[in-house]
Amino acid sequence: MPAKIIDGTAISGEIRQEIARDIGALKAKGVTPGLAVILVGEDPPSQSYVRSKNKVAHEIGVHSEQHDLAATTSEAELLALIERLNRDPRIHGILVQLPLPGAIDERKVITAISPEKDVDGFHPVSLGRIMTGEPGFRPCTPLGIQKLLEYSGTKVEGSHVVVVGRSNIVGKPIANMLMQKEKNADATVTVCHSRTRDLPAITRQADILIAAIGRPEFVTADMVREGATVIDVGINRVEDATKKKGYRMVGDVKFDEVAAKAGAITPVPGGVGPMTITMLLYNTVESAKHAAGLR
Ligand SMILES: NC(=O)c1ccc[n+]([C@@H]2O[C@H](COP(=O)([O-])OP(=O)(O)OC[C@H]3O[C@@H](n4cnc5c(N)ncnc54)[C@H](OP(=O)(O)O)[C@@H]3O)[C@@H](O)[C@H]2O)c1
Repeated sequence: MPAKIIDGTAISGEIRQEIARDIGALKAKGVTPGLAVILVGEDPPSQSYVRSKNKVAHEIGVHSEQHDLAATTSEAELLALIERLNRDPRIHGILVQLPLPGAIDERKVITAISPEKDVDGFHPVSLGRIMTGEPGFRPCTPLGIQKLLEYSGTKVEGSHVVVVGRSNIVGKPIANMLMQKEKNADATVTVCHSRTRDLPAITRQADILIAAIGRPEFVTADMVREGATVIDVGINRVEDATKKKGYRMVGDVKFDEVAAKAGAITPVPGGVGPMTITMLLYNTVESAKHAAGLR
């Protein structure tokens, strides 16, 4: 039987409706959630990400302000802006679009954001809170994965989750989140990477396989157990002469053959991708609720 498709666009839409209701309740109490997005330089993909983040924020009713800084902006100027936004009560979330120009120390900038406004979840305090299981902001892509599992009715508790990839933005946080002793977690987690010996033997043990590798169609059917749930985080551009643009986007999973064997699978595009921006709004609204004493 072909796998059930876990539709990230539909689940994201459902969660956006819930977020919109929360925003309505906050506004009724005189609070408008506020997000500040900082972009340094003119990197076209970053400009496009920031534009869509702002657009979605506006659409849903979040007050969103974009700070476009020249590529020549000094680290001190950027830190001063972050400090100002940290103190601004109208702002509940601060996001600095990465990567930053080479002269600016990314770690210093991320650490300057108040952990109480760290809606991207990259501050070391947020990452530490994931490890200890304390409340705090979870990075948007891993949080999106956890919500996809929850909203698709996938049983995580007691499952063997295999995560392929150990990046700070996806692999490590999702592994830590799913191993926590809490709701929508409580899994047995194995983390694999480029030095893992006999990767297919491990991925075949997964009830839930999460691929965050960055290699097009790397996970093939022989690496997947019959009936497993497969979450494909990868976004890769591959040449395709049949397409107008000359390329198409594929995930880290060879979709057709894996979908014939898995129990459930996320497509690319339309799986994890749409969840990421939604989780940014979710974190911003949670932050506003917290600031308003509603959480
Ligand atoms: N949907 C979204 O919103 C979203 C968000 C973020 C990322 N992504 C996508 O997700 C993918 C992963 O992103 P990332 O930032 O986590 O990537 P990354 O920082 O490049 O990490 C890739 C991980 O994959 C591992 N790996 C590479 N080759 C491998 C192999 N042959 N066998 C086993 N493991 C291997 C690496 O192992 P080592 O650590 O040993 O090098 C590393 O841990 C990318 O395609 C990215 O575009 C999507």
